Amino acid sequence: MHRRVDRLIEAQERWAKPVGQWNQRWIAAAFAGSGPLKDLLNGVWLGHPVHPAVTDVPVGALTAGMLLDLTGQRRAADVVTATGVAAMVASAVTGAADAVDAHGRPQVQATVHASIMVGSLAAYLASLAVRAARPSSRTLAVSLALLGYAGVASGAYVGGELVYGSGNMVDRHAWRTGGARWRRLDVDEVPEGAPVQARAGQDTLVLYRTGDAIHALHDTCAHAGGPLSGGTVIDGCIECPWHGSRFRLSDGRVVRGPAVYDQPAYEVRAIDGGGLEARRLPEPLD
Ligand code: FES
Repeated sequence: MHRRVDRLIEAQERWAKPVGQWNQRWIAAAFAGSGPLKDLLNGVWLGHPVHPAVTDVPVGALTAGMLLDLTGQRRAADVVTATGVAAMVASAVTGAADAVDAHGRPQVQATVHASIMVGSLAAYLASLAVRAARPSSRTLAVSLALLGYAGVASGAYVGGELVYGSGNMVDRHAWRTGGARWRRLDVDEVPEGAPVQARAGQDTLVLYRTGDAIHALHDTCAHAGGPLSGGTVIDGCIECPWHGSRFRLSDGRVVRGPAVYDQPAYEVRAIDGGGLEARRLPEPLD
């Protein structure tokens, strides 16, 4: 079944791609210059994307609201449904902060997901309006809420596919284990003031020299895989050239999103007789 649904989602590319790009332009303009706000919505402070955590609130509240509606507990159903609708708006804002940096297949999926959720929100808002204006029209209010709930369930499926199927906002180093083994680098010299790409076994690192110290991070950005060696160094951090995430060179700590996960960091030392070697540092505890 999931293959059929995937094909159905991908068939939406014709309209979803241009709509998604248009949405990304105005959302990016709205977030321009609001770095801390976008970091807050992405989840840099939490070390985890905020959106999937927030979405649990409307899904839970709207499920409860549906059950209360169907069992005739009107007052409780209205309050819980209104709570779910308010939480949908909060989910939309956090989702927009993530979707603005999605490209390719994830962007299409994000646009389909958001479009279904907006339709669902409209159905729920109509349901709330009917509840407030015509308390006797319970059948219409509940029908609209059920329609909205079908949208929430469908949109949640697409959102799940976006994360679990396409890996959007998943840590690019989730399966990369640490290790105390020193591995020889394929560069012998690191000039000061410019990022240098180097291989250490299977891994590609970015090296940056400051005086006698050579800082090293994994080259693949934790957010979506951008090459940090193509980035720029600002205030002791390297900035990814794709979406502008910044990681502290000394320990890989993320200091600006959209990445929410730290970057694997390495220590580098000279080898007797010439050359350099690196090994992964333990993750910072705080
Ligand atoms: S790939 Fe998105 S910020 Fe690096």
